[in-house]
Amino acid sequence: MCVNVYMWEYTDKVKNAFLHPKNTGEIPDADAVGEVGSIVCGDALKLFLKVDKETGRITDARFQTFGCASAIASSSALTELVKGRTLDEALKVTNQDIADFLGGLPDQKMHCSVMGREALEAAIANYRGESYTAETKEKVVCKCFDVTEDKIRKVAVENHLTTVDEITNFTKAGGGCGECIPNIEAILRDLWSIKPPEKPAAPKKLTNLHKIALIQEVIENEVRPGLQADNGDIELIDIDGNRVIVALRGMCTGCLMSDVTIKGVQEKLRELVNKEIVVEALQ
Ligand code: FES
Repeated sequence: MCVNVYMWEYTDKVKNAFLHPKNTGEIPDADAVGEVGSIVCGDALKLFLKVDKETGRITDARFQTFGCASAIASSSALTELVKGRTLDEALKVTNQDIADFLGGLPDQKMHCSVMGREALEAAIANYRGESYTAETKEKVVCKCFDVTEDKIRKVAVENHLTTVDEITNFTKAGGGCGECIPNIEAILRDLWSIKPPEKPAAPKKLTNLHKIALIQEVIENEVRPGLQADNGDIELIDIDGNRVIVALRGMCTGCLMSDVTIKGVQEKLRELVNKEIVVEALQ
Protein backbone atom coordinates (compact mmCIF):
# COMPACT_ATOMS: atom_id res chain seq x y z
CA MET A 1 0.00 0.00 0.00
CA CYS A 2 1.25 3.53 -0.69
CA VAL A 3 1.53 4.78 2.86
CA ASN A 4 2.32 8.45 3.21
CA VAL A 5 5.33 8.14 5.47
CA TYR A 6 6.91 11.14 3.77
CA MET A 7 5.40 14.51 2.94
CA TRP A 8 5.27 14.23 -0.83
CA GLU A 9 5.56 17.37 -2.89
CA TYR A 10 2.33 17.18 -4.87
CA THR A 11 1.37 19.71 -7.51
CA ASP A 12 -1.97 21.49 -7.19
CA LYS A 13 -3.22 19.44 -10.14
CA VAL A 14 -2.40 16.18 -8.34
CA LYS A 15 -4.10 17.40 -5.17
CA ASN A 16 -7.17 18.50 -7.11
CA ALA A 17 -7.37 15.23 -9.07
CA PHE A 18 -7.05 13.29 -5.82
CA LEU A 19 -9.65 15.32 -3.94
CA HIS A 20 -12.04 15.62 -6.90
CA PRO A 21 -11.24 12.67 -9.20
CA LYS A 22 -13.05 12.53 -12.52
CA ASN A 23 -14.70 9.44 -14.02
CA THR A 24 -14.72 7.21 -10.96
CA GLY A 25 -16.75 4.02 -10.70
CA GLU A 26 -17.46 1.23 -13.11
CA ILE A 27 -19.21 1.06 -16.47
CA PRO A 28 -21.57 -1.92 -16.07
CA ASP A 29 -21.79 -2.58 -19.82
CA ALA A 30 -18.16 -1.70 -20.60
CA ASP A 31 -16.76 -2.79 -23.96
CA ALA A 32 -13.32 -3.27 -22.43
CA VAL A 33 -11.85 -3.76 -18.98
CA GLY A 34 -8.18 -3.57 -18.03
CA GLU A 35 -7.11 -4.66 -14.58
CA VAL A 36 -3.53 -4.35 -13.35
CA GLY A 37 -1.62 -4.45 -10.09
CA SER A 38 -2.78 -6.29 -7.02
CA ILE A 39 -3.92 -5.26 -3.58
CA VAL A 40 -1.22 -7.55 -2.14
CA CYS A 41 1.43 -5.44 -3.88
CA GLY A 42 -0.15 -2.19 -2.73
CA ASP A 43 -1.77 -0.69 -5.84
CA ALA A 44 -4.46 -1.95 -8.16
CA LEU A 45 -6.37 -0.28 -10.97
CA LYS A 46 -9.38 -1.39 -12.98
CA LEU A 47 -10.14 0.65 -16.09
CA PHE A 48 -13.48 0.47 -17.94
CA LEU A 49 -13.91 1.72 -21.51
CA LYS A 50 -16.92 2.28 -23.76
CA VAL A 51 -15.89 2.25 -27.39
CA ASP A 52 -17.81 3.37 -30.46
CA LYS A 53 -17.56 0.27 -32.62
CA GLU A 54 -17.77 2.18 -35.90
CA THR A 55 -15.12 4.79 -35.23
CA GLY A 56 -13.03 2.96 -32.64
CA ARG A 57 -13.28 6.08 -30.48
CA ILE A 58 -13.41 5.88 -26.68
CA THR A 59 -16.70 7.46 -25.64
CA ASP A 60 -16.40 6.86 -21.91
CA ALA A 61 -13.67 5.83 -19.49
CA ARG A 62 -14.03 5.15 -15.78
CA PHE A 63 -11.88 3.61 -13.09
CA GLN A 64 -11.77 1.92 -9.73
CA THR A 65 -8.48 1.96 -7.88
CA PHE A 66 -6.90 0.88 -4.66
CA GLY A 67 -3.92 3.04 -3.94
CA CYS A 68 -2.54 6.33 -2.74
CA ALA A 69 -3.27 9.91 -3.78
CA SER A 70 -0.99 9.61 -6.82
CA ALA A 71 -2.71 6.41 -7.97
CA ILE A 72 -6.13 8.08 -7.80
CA ALA A 73 -4.87 11.25 -9.49
CA SER A 74 -3.08 9.24 -12.22
CA SER A 75 -6.18 7.13 -12.87
CA SER A 76 -8.35 10.24 -13.10
CA ALA A 77 -5.84 11.85 -15.50
CA LEU A 78 -5.72 8.71 -17.61
CA THR A 79 -9.48 8.71 -18.15
CA GLU A 80 -9.41 12.38 -19.10
CA LEU A 81 -6.55 11.79 -21.53
CA VAL A 82 -8.16 8.88 -23.38
CA LYS A 83 -11.79 10.00 -23.62
CA GLY A 84 -12.52 11.13 -27.16
CA ARG A 85 -9.47 9.43 -28.63
CA THR A 86 -9.48 6.44 -30.95
CA LEU A 87 -7.92 3.28 -29.53
CA ASP A 88 -4.80 3.79 -31.65
CA GLU A 89 -4.51 7.39 -30.46
CA ALA A 90 -5.03 6.29 -26.86
CA LEU A 91 -2.21 3.77 -27.15
CA LYS A 92 0.14 6.69 -27.81
CA VAL A 93 -0.55 8.06 -24.30
CA THR A 94 2.57 7.33 -22.26
CA ASN A 95 3.05 7.21 -18.52
CA GLN A 96 4.96 10.48 -18.91
CA ASP A 97 1.86 12.05 -20.54
CA ILE A 98 -0.14 11.04 -17.46
CA ALA A 99 2.46 12.60 -15.14
CA ASP A 100 2.68 15.74 -17.33
CA PHE A 101 -1.12 16.09 -17.30
CA LEU A 102 -0.85 16.37 -13.51
CA GLY A 103 1.98 18.89 -13.67
CA GLY A 104 4.41 16.13 -12.64
CA LEU A 105 4.53 13.45 -9.96
CA PRO A 106 7.12 12.97 -7.20
CA ASP A 107 9.90 10.67 -8.52
CA GLN A 108 8.94 8.00 -5.99
CA LYS A 109 5.36 8.01 -7.30
CA MET A 110 6.03 7.58 -11.02
CA HIS A 111 4.98 3.92 -10.69
CA CYS A 112 1.39 5.19 -10.41
CA SER A 113 1.57 6.68 -13.90
CA VAL A 114 3.09 3.41 -15.17
CA MET A 115 0.15 1.52 -13.65
CA GLY A 116 -2.23 3.80 -15.57
CA ARG A 117 -0.46 3.12 -18.85
CA GLU A 118 -0.55 -0.64 -18.15
CA ALA A 119 -4.29 -0.57 -17.41
CA LEU A 120 -4.85 1.21 -20.71
CA GLU A 121 -2.84 -1.40 -22.63
CA ALA A 122 -4.69 -4.18 -20.82
CA ALA A 123 -8.12 -2.67 -21.60
CA ILE A 124 -7.35 -2.17 -25.29
CA ALA A 125 -5.93 -5.71 -25.53
CA ASN A 126 -9.13 -6.92 -23.89
CA TYR A 127 -11.26 -5.02 -26.44
CA ARG A 128 -9.25 -6.48 -29.31
CA GLY A 129 -9.42 -10.01 -27.94
CA GLU A 130 -5.67 -10.09 -27.41
CA SER A 131 -3.82 -11.42 -24.40
CA TYR A 132 -2.16 -8.79 -22.24
CA THR A 133 -0.47 -11.20 -19.84
CA ALA A 134 2.50 -12.06 -22.05
CA GLU A 135 4.68 -12.00 -18.98
CA THR A 136 5.26 -15.27 -17.14
CA LYS A 137 5.89 -15.97 -13.48
CA GLU A 138 9.27 -17.52 -14.39
CA LYS A 139 10.51 -14.07 -15.35
CA VAL A 140 9.57 -12.36 -12.09
CA VAL A 141 12.61 -10.42 -10.90
CA CYS A 142 11.18 -8.67 -7.85
CA LYS A 143 9.13 -11.06 -5.75
CA CYS A 144 8.14 -8.37 -3.24
CA PHE A 145 6.20 -6.44 -5.89
CA ASP A 146 5.69 -9.11 -8.54
CA VAL A 147 7.64 -7.20 -11.19
CA THR A 148 8.88 -9.09 -14.23
CA GLU A 149 12.02 -8.62 -16.30
CA ASP A 150 9.86 -7.68 -19.30
CA LYS A 151 8.30 -4.83 -17.35
CA ILE A 152 11.66 -3.55 -16.07
CA ARG A 153 13.10 -3.54 -19.59
CA LYS A 154 10.03 -1.89 -21.13
CA VAL A 155 9.73 0.86 -18.52
CA ALA A 156 13.51 1.49 -18.60
CA VAL A 157 13.52 1.94 -22.37
CA GLU A 158 10.35 4.07 -22.50
CA ASN A 159 11.55 6.40 -19.74
CA HIS A 160 15.34 6.32 -20.28
CA LEU A 161 15.98 4.82 -16.83
CA THR A 162 19.54 3.84 -16.04
CA THR A 163 19.70 3.35 -12.26
CA VAL A 164 18.10 0.95 -9.77
CA ASP A 165 16.59 3.90 -7.87
CA GLU A 166 14.82 5.05 -11.02
CA ILE A 167 13.53 1.52 -11.67
CA THR A 168 12.20 1.44 -8.09
CA ASN A 169 10.45 4.79 -8.57
CA PHE A 170 8.77 3.67 -11.76
CA THR A 171 7.96 0.01 -10.94
CA LYS A 172 8.55 -0.42 -7.18
CA ALA A 173 10.98 -3.28 -7.98
CA GLY A 174 13.84 -3.22 -5.52
CA GLY A 175 11.90 -1.15 -2.99
CA GLY A 176 11.26 -4.00 -0.54
CA CYS A 177 13.76 -6.52 0.78
CA GLY A 178 16.32 -5.49 -1.84
CA GLU A 179 17.23 -9.06 -2.82
CA CYS A 180 16.45 -8.37 -6.47
CA ILE A 181 18.72 -5.33 -6.76
CA PRO A 182 21.71 -7.25 -8.24
CA ASN A 183 19.39 -8.70 -10.87
CA ILE A 184 17.99 -5.27 -11.71
CA GLU A 185 21.55 -3.96 -12.05
CA ALA A 186 22.36 -6.83 -14.40
CA ILE A 187 19.31 -6.07 -16.54
CA LEU A 188 20.26 -2.40 -16.77
CA ARG A 189 23.86 -3.27 -17.67
CA ASP A 190 22.66 -5.62 -20.35
CA LEU A 191 20.14 -3.12 -21.68
CA TRP A 192 22.35 -0.07 -21.90
CA SER A 193 25.63 -1.75 -22.82
CA ILE A 194 23.96 -2.59 -26.12
CA LYS A 195 22.27 0.73 -26.75
CA PRO A 196 22.93 3.76 -24.55
CA PRO A 197 19.77 5.67 -23.54
CA GLU A 198 18.94 8.57 -25.75
CA LYS A 199 18.96 11.39 -23.25
CA PRO A 200 17.95 14.80 -24.58
CA ALA A 201 20.86 16.53 -26.27
CA ALA A 202 22.73 19.11 -24.21
CA PRO A 203 21.46 22.61 -24.89
CA LYS A 204 23.50 24.45 -27.49
CA LYS A 205 24.26 28.15 -27.63
CA LEU A 206 22.21 29.43 -30.51
CA THR A 207 22.07 32.76 -32.25
CA ASN A 208 18.57 34.15 -32.66
CA LEU A 209 18.55 33.32 -36.34
CA HIS A 210 19.65 29.77 -35.70
CA LYS A 211 17.05 29.38 -32.97
CA ILE A 212 14.23 30.57 -35.23
CA ALA A 213 15.39 28.26 -38.03
CA LEU A 214 15.62 25.33 -35.62
CA ILE A 215 12.14 25.96 -34.20
CA GLN A 216 10.73 26.07 -37.73
CA GLU A 217 12.53 22.85 -38.61
CA VAL A 218 11.34 20.99 -35.48
CA ILE A 219 7.72 22.05 -36.01
CA GLU A 220 7.87 21.13 -39.69
CA ASN A 221 9.62 17.78 -39.34
CA GLU A 222 8.92 16.56 -35.82
CA VAL A 223 5.49 17.96 -34.94
CA ARG A 224 3.36 18.48 -38.07
CA PRO A 225 3.61 14.94 -39.51
CA GLY A 226 2.22 13.44 -36.29
CA LEU A 227 -0.68 15.91 -36.13
CA GLN A 228 -1.43 15.61 -39.84
CA ALA A 229 -1.64 11.83 -39.46
CA ASP A 230 -4.64 12.48 -37.20
CA ASN A 231 -6.10 15.10 -39.59
CA GLY A 232 -4.85 17.96 -37.45
CA ASP A 233 -2.17 20.54 -38.08
CA ILE A 234 -0.24 23.38 -36.51
CA GLU A 235 0.92 26.75 -37.82
CA LEU A 236 3.84 28.71 -36.45
CA ILE A 237 2.59 32.28 -35.97
CA ASP A 238 5.41 34.12 -34.22
CA ILE A 239 8.57 33.74 -32.17
CA ASP A 240 9.33 36.32 -29.50
CA GLY A 241 12.46 35.43 -27.55
CA ASN A 242 11.61 32.09 -25.99
CA ARG A 243 7.85 32.53 -26.57
CA VAL A 244 6.61 30.49 -29.49
CA ILE A 245 3.09 31.35 -30.66
CA VAL A 246 1.28 28.71 -32.67
CA ALA A 247 -2.23 28.07 -33.98
CA LEU A 248 -3.80 24.62 -34.07
CA ARG A 249 -5.55 23.74 -37.30
CA GLY A 250 -7.78 21.01 -38.73
CA MET A 251 -9.02 18.42 -36.23
CA CYS A 252 -6.81 20.01 -33.56
CA THR A 253 -8.98 23.16 -33.61
CA GLY A 254 -11.14 23.21 -30.50
CA CYS A 255 -10.01 19.69 -29.59
CA LEU A 256 -10.44 18.78 -25.92
CA MET A 257 -6.84 17.61 -25.93
CA SER A 258 -5.43 20.88 -27.33
CA ASP A 259 -3.69 21.69 -24.02
CA VAL A 260 -1.95 18.33 -24.12
CA THR A 261 -0.96 18.89 -27.76
CA ILE A 262 0.52 22.30 -26.98
CA LYS A 263 2.38 20.83 -24.01
CA GLY A 264 3.76 18.10 -26.26
CA VAL A 265 5.00 20.67 -28.78
CA GLN A 266 6.61 22.62 -25.94
CA GLU A 267 8.35 19.47 -24.63
CA LYS A 268 9.67 18.69 -28.11
CA LEU A 269 11.01 22.23 -28.59
CA ARG A 270 12.54 22.25 -25.11
CA GLU A 271 14.23 18.94 -25.86
CA LEU A 272 15.56 19.86 -29.28
CA VAL A 273 15.99 23.64 -29.22
CA ASN A 274 16.03 25.36 -25.82
CA LYS A 275 14.73 24.27 -22.43
CA GLU A 276 13.37 27.77 -21.71
CA ILE A 277 10.87 27.73 -24.57
CA VAL A 278 7.22 28.39 -23.75
CA VAL A 279 4.62 27.51 -26.37
CA GLU A 280 1.35 29.42 -26.45
CA ALA A 281 -1.68 28.76 -28.60
CA LEU A 282 -3.27 31.65 -30.44
CA GLN A 283 -6.81 32.02 -29.02
S1 FES B 1 12.54 -9.08 -4.22
FE1 FES B 1 12.60 -7.05 -5.01
S2 FES B 1 12.52 -5.83 -3.24
FE2 FES B 1 12.28 -7.84 -2.47
